[in-house]
Amino acid sequence: MALVGATFQDFTPLALGTAVALAGLSLWFLARYACGHRSKPTTPQTLPEVPGLPVIGNLLQLKEKKPHKTFTQWAKTYGPIYSIRTGANIIIVLNSSDVVKEAMVTRFSSISTRKLSSALKTLTFDKTMVAMSDYDDFHKMMKRLVLTNVLGPNAQKRHRIHRETLIENTSRQLQIHLKNYPLEAVNLNKIFDYELFGLAIKQVLGKDVASIRVGELGITMSREDIIKVLVTGPMEGAIEVDWRDFFPYLRWIPNKSFERKIQQMCIQREALMKALIQEQKKRIDLGEDIDCYLDFLLSEAKTLSEKQMAMLLWEVIIQATDTTMVTVEWAMFELAKNPKSQDRLYREIQSICGPEKITEDKLCHLPYLSTVFHETIRKYSPIPVIPLRYVHEDTELGGYHIPARSEIAINIYGCNMDNKVWENPEEWRPERFLDENNDTVDLFKTMSFGGGRRICAGALQAMVISCMAIGRFIQEFEWQLKDGEEENVDTQVLTTRKLHPMQAILKPRN
Ligand code: HEM
Repeated sequence: MALVGATFQDFTPLALGTAVALAGLSLWFLARYACGHRSKPTTPQTLPEVPGLPVIGNLLQLKEKKPHKTFTQWAKTYGPIYSIRTGANIIIVLNSSDVVKEAMVTRFSSISTRKLSSALKTLTFDKTMVAMSDYDDFHKMMKRLVLTNVLGPNAQKRHRIHRETLIENTSRQLQIHLKNYPLEAVNLNKIFDYELFGLAIKQVLGKDVASIRVGELGITMSREDIIKVLVTGPMEGAIEVDWRDFFPYLRWIPNKSFERKIQQMCIQREALMKALIQEQKKRIDLGEDIDCYLDFLLSEAKTLSEKQMAMLLWEVIIQATDTTMVTVEWAMFELAKNPKSQDRLYREIQSICGPEKITEDKLCHLPYLSTVFHETIRKYSPIPVIPLRYVHEDTELGGYHIPARSEIAINIYGCNMDNKVWENPEEWRPERFLDENNDTVDLFKTMSFGGGRRICAGALQAMVISCMAIGRFIQEFEWQLKDGEEENVDTQVLTTRKLHPMQAILKPRN
């Protein structure tokens, strides 16, 4: 967070605004809670509990696998903070911005570790990722490395060329679709996902890959195979459930099929990452240096083991695609559904860019575009529930005593749907972030990027890519949902990713 703020000013004015907002946000957290806590009652009360069944607790009530929605529903009865039981585990669920900020900032030192599911423990090579680690020296080192070379403002300036290629390629694919099938709906998800993966690979390895021979597995992988092994497979694996996580006293019972499945994913990923790295090392040996994360880690992070290095590289690849895709797809869905908003955005872009294509330097002059982005990550929080945090010493939240060894679920979706903070939260209305002079206000009031020391490291990249993509898609085409598509609002398990990719009909502008 400090690193993000420190060097923002020499990026675009958008980034400067972001830096000020992020810095302001954390100061605001501090000020608010420094004051807030003085007036809290001194005797902590007993936390409300959602009633469940003996032994299994509330597990059956969560079987729909949309915990963010179930938690938000329970908050209506039990309030912004309550406890649930998943088998033998106690989880404290936080559903309002106030109590979430308290956990992320004021009480952070007591809640700075993670408790990972068995699947995540294996897939993250026991917390060897910035986002899944405990807050310790290793975490700080990893975060510094990724900010310096990939995600911080200076690094983002150097990677601008890759973002421009991403937008150009996607736009070209949409033009081709329109030319060949003018009356058929386009699947934006398929095109944009593929390009986002390309961007991540270039940031990490320096060059895109079409296919690769993976010696350890004795196979050649196509690009589709590579995406499956590095992104879609592990994402499905991350939400695999080992029932023994809920009943640790039964851990002696084997769960071989689960273990084999996750192990297999790790073996394939490791072999593939090794092959990808070897390929690039040949380039480096030939004297061809590229400004990418691999080259940087090889020269600056010599204490990392090969496996740790592969994990750090993989983290950027897996994080670069999903959340940005979720944001852009839902934003285009809402714009296609709301012609007035679409028209307003088009007019704003026309007035600033005229006949020129939108560029990153123009983003700070496009306030409505910015509100479209922030309203979309409010309504469709791309990370609806933050991976569980762990309370390692007794603490207090919202005036309640929180015992050590509790787990904390931060329901970002619940905060963003809180009708005490947001008027008609179900409604997608970018105008809520504009004042009477059409200036943007409170853009970071959503909790979508988290807060405090674990604030999202990729917020700048996500904002710039999403705004550039949305802006360019609206500049070039008029978007209309295919008949029946408006009702397709279901999401994939545990996430806010659209279950059925958006189907939209395009019309050229001019
Ligand atoms: C709209 C898009 C995105 C949203 C809404 C989002 C949201 C979040 C949230 C809520 C957290 C905090 C988790 C916590 O408190 O434990 C987080 C952390 C993180 N995000 Fe993002 N993210 C987005 C895009 C990205 C991208 C594109 C990248 C990288 C390519 C990225 C990299 C990270 C990393 C490395 C962390 C861990 C930070 C830490 O633990 O110190 N994010 N993100």
